[in-house]
Amino acid sequence: KDLHQEIEQFDINTPEKLELFRMKFISRKGVITELFESLKSVPQADRRTIGQELNGLKNLAQERFEASSQLVDEQRDSANSAPPVDLTLPTIPNLTGTQHPLSLVRQRIIQIFERIGFDVADGPEIESDWYNFGALNFPDNHPARDMQDTFFVEKASEGAPSDMLLRTHTSNVQIRLMERQKSRTDGAPFRPIRSIMPGRVYRNETISARAHCMFHQVEGIYIDRNVGFKDLKDTLYHFVKEMFEPGTQIRFRPSYFPFTEPSAEIDISCQICGGTGCNICKHTGWVEIAGSGMVDPQVIANCGIDPEEYTGFAFGMGIERITQLKYVVNDLRLYTENDVRFLRQFEGL
Ligand code: PHE
Repeated sequence: KDLHQEIEQFDINTPEKLELFRMKFISRKGVITELFESLKSVPQADRRTIGQELNGLKNLAQERFEASSQLVDEQRDSANSAPPVDLTLPTIPNLTGTQHPLSLVRQRIIQIFERIGFDVADGPEIESDWYNFGALNFPDNHPARDMQDTFFVEKASEGAPSDMLLRTHTSNVQIRLMERQKSRTDGAPFRPIRSIMPGRVYRNETISARAHCMFHQVEGIYIDRNVGFKDLKDTLYHFVKEMFEPGTQIRFRPSYFPFTEPSAEIDISCQICGGTGCNICKHTGWVEIAGSGMVDPQVIANCGIDPEEYTGFAFGMGIERITQLKYVVNDLRLYTENDVRFLRQFEGL
């Protein structure tokens, strides 16, 4: 009877007291086990009733133990956790990053050209005069070499300009690719070059809505036997068709570059106003997106390839410009300011 009362009234509200209770009533060394042991010495006649009583005690202790350990667990959980959740508060947004619009467009350009057999090539951003200008037929006095346009890299020791510079276009990679043919020693026949070269380029310009001292280009080159102007046109028509709205107009406008002959600039109908006239196309309905041309035989020869046997075309475009037309970005500075209000607009693209 006393035990019965004690089990019922035992104060179990902490893990420590729970353990005491367990030791006393549940464990093998506890009182109930002890009483079961002493059952042997009880006269046969009483054994049955006392046995039943003991079983009752045992079950009671077990029930209290289970109920109490649940309570103690719950108490511990709520003590460990932060203040209760207020379900009426607005959620904390889970901000995942977005791809930068220039990355999106670069990837798209690469995808379009890869599908028609171009691979992706890379080269240094700090380059010698030869790879950026000389091999590309820029005469010594060409204005593009002028301090106004090109960032020259000073030799640390002398403070004098060296012939190293920050590349002004990714054409340096074209020269390096062509040269590599010459240095090959495997004796295998000429391997056609069909590559695009995305990358950063630098020009000494004042930063404004329309100009930046650093921007991105994708240039391309295709050199093989019998590559003609038609191949250039087909390739760039295909690119424009894949990149822009269906129905986009394209035109080739004669132009000049020291490293291509003939040369053409490529215009497309303005993606912003559809040709009716706006600031982006300066009310002409056309925007220039790329320079291009047949690689000058002298440039091919400069790289040790026979221009009588091999011909090719090259082109180059600015990723910022393509992105501007595709996503109506009217200020170049937005690309580098990292304003999340701008960047978030490209979420999920
Ligand atoms: N390199 C030229 C530029 O940066 C672009 C171009 C590349 C033009 C290839 C013609 C052929 O403006």
